[in-house]
Amino acid sequence: MNQEKVIVIDFGGQYNQLVARRVRECNVYCEIFSYKTDLEQIKAMQPKGIILTGGPNSCYEADSPGCTPELFRLGIPVLGLCYGAQLMMHVLGGKVEKAPVREYGKTQVSFNTESPLFAGVPESAVCWMSHFDYISEMAPGFEAVAHTADCPVAAAQNTADDLYAIQFHPEVLHTQDGTKMLYNFVRGICGCAGTWKMDSFVENSIQELRKKVGNGKVLCALSGGVDSSVAAVMLAKAVGEQLTCVFVDHGLLRKNEGDEVEAVFGPQGPYKLNFIRVNAQERFYGKLAGVEEPERKRKIIGEEFIRVFEEEAKKIGAVDFLVQGTIYPDVVESGLGGESAVIKSHHNVGGLPDCVDFKEIIEPLRNLFKDEVRKAGLELGIPEYLVFRQPFPGPGLGIRIIGEVTAQKVQIVQEADAIYREEIAKAGLDRSIGQYFAALTNMRSVGVMGDERTYDYAVALRAVNTVDFMTAESAEIPFAVLQTVMSRIINEVRGVNRVFYDLTSKPPGTIEFE
Ligand code: XMP
Repeated sequence: MNQEKVIVIDFGGQYNQLVARRVRECNVYCEIFSYKTDLEQIKAMQPKGIILTGGPNSCYEADSPGCTPELFRLGIPVLGLCYGAQLMMHVLGGKVEKAPVREYGKTQVSFNTESPLFAGVPESAVCWMSHFDYISEMAPGFEAVAHTADCPVAAAQNTADDLYAIQFHPEVLHTQDGTKMLYNFVRGICGCAGTWKMDSFVENSIQELRKKVGNGKVLCALSGGVDSSVAAVMLAKAVGEQLTCVFVDHGLLRKNEGDEVEAVFGPQGPYKLNFIRVNAQERFYGKLAGVEEPERKRKIIGEEFIRVFEEEAKKIGAVDFLVQGTIYPDVVESGLGGESAVIKSHHNVGGLPDCVDFKEIIEPLRNLFKDEVRKAGLELGIPEYLVFRQPFPGPGLGIRIIGEVTAQKVQIVQEADAIYREEIAKAGLDRSIGQYFAALTNMRSVGVMGDERTYDYAVALRAVNTVDFMTAESAEIPFAVLQTVMSRIINEVRGVNRVFYDLTSKPPGTIEFE
């Protein structure tokens, strides 16, 4: 993609992906690179701006991540954030020391609104601070353009050299007008025109895919999830029937999900592609019979999935390309992008490619964040219910049923979950809760329905809010909504006589219920 670009240099802070996202919200394309990236490589990319991120170190310590002073002499505007701001000062001859008062959290900051960085920002605003060190002396040529009660240099600028430093975190939404400040930097100071738009991305990608694939054959494992669906439609639009999508219905999908996927991608749907649905429900239930241990269930489902996929791939024969729905956070978190590498390891990585005869992997969503994947999906005309689908684990309902998985239990949890989702949507909460679903506990207890004694299962409702799925809080759902869900589940789903709401956060719980 040949377009204006801002690069984010990663010093290991926790908000680094947010910086890139906010920049893209300003319609400027942006990528993250490690602080170890060679200066020549940076020059070759011809970025219109450079942003140095926060990080956990102290820049004056010997083995802290650093950068060469040359970075500030390229004639490219640089913005340092938190650690990046301190490093800029340190490298250019200023002084950074342990702060007498540590600032953490929402802090009132006063601005010089004549600075191009703070144009249109109020003279005083709440910003998100998180630092132990502070800039005690600015580097030559800099002037302070923001301060707090405890921090004399909350921001500094050297307009002659286009260098800017901000001690707080404009990328975090707690910072009032933070996006405006980043906008001022990338669109004002760097002069980016703001050409990064989803429609042009989609159109360019389709053309590039068409060129790359030529007459080749392409294979895609379709899960029905957002990422693989968007990737599949993009390829279908690019190469039509050269694409084969294999969709394995393992019998552990949500209610009607198999048919919904088929309605979109199958022969009755709007796209021209080869669609193979493998109805492997019985096969999976057979393998899972009598198995209670969650890890063992995951393993069986994963292995069986690969076996089924492999059998189908063999029928198709050799293909040139295999499609994967990798998205940008996966790329960054697997260590290709920067220092944030270490934070997270992935659930669904590996597996498939080994068993399929292909020459190359194509990852059409590799540069997109999740919300951008959704935008691309809408742009491609994929129905909203698919585009805004909840995250759903590969092993499906297999890990939302405690104990042995049986066809009957799958049906119970599918019905209960469908009711829960319907009521959450009716209450207008479906886009505001991070993830929510029903699970089936392995607990049976005595109840009474009509005049009869029952001895049935308990369903657990889960709903969490989360930023990164690494930690989560249970969501506050209005009691009346929970009551409606409870009474509908008990009345409409046979085999259930109790409904619980799971209040556990993560940690100590996990989001899934297995
Ligand atoms: P946990 O349960 O680990 O889940 O707190 C965190 C997030 O990951 C999803 N999850 C999975 N996603 N394959 C996936 O694609 C899996 O095996 C898997 N296990 C958990 C879970 O739904 C939540 O969003």
